[in-house]
Amino acid sequence: MSEAVDISLSVNGEAVTRRVPARQNLVDFLREELGLQGTRAGCEHGACGACTVRIDGAIARACLTLAAQLDGAKVETIEGLSRSGEIVPLQAAFHERNAVQCGFCTAGMLVTAAELLRLPQPPSRAEIRDFLSGNYCRCTGYHAIIDAIDAACRGKARE
Ligand code: FES
Ligand code: FES
Repeated sequence: MSEAVDISLSVNGEAVTRRVPARQNLVDFLREELGLQGTRAGCEHGACGACTVRIDGAIARACLTLAAQLDGAKVETIEGLSRSGEIVPLQAAFHERNAVQCGFCTAGMLVTAAELLRLPQPPSRAEIRDFLSGNYCRCTGYHAIIDAIDAACRGKARE
């Protein structure tokens, strides 16, 4: 029988306490234990970015993070960022510019792009491409996604 670990953490602002298998990764914990299905499990080895979440304010791969490591941590998922209104400009721009096809990559893209929205100055398109280079999309060819993030960052800067 595998070892279990008790953890208490904040997920999207709510206190969560659970006993987790020592080897359970964060993406499985979020999806299976907490029912937060917005975070996707794609490659499950750190390559595709579909599982991107925020841990203690910094983006991280949920597939490479063990839930057992997160005692005392603050985790934010796409559900939390959506609920807070933080990514409204990105969501609107993705919608307007058809930057979503199957949607599998979208949550990870939005959580990653939210970092760019927080910059004091809008990034260049090259900087956006570079920052998003760890997030794979198999459908869109990326142009619409870059356009959407560019528009959201520029719009936000004008507010
Ligand atoms: S599922 Fe985590 S990087 Fe692909
Ligand atoms: S929209 Fe399908 S993987 Fe990006």
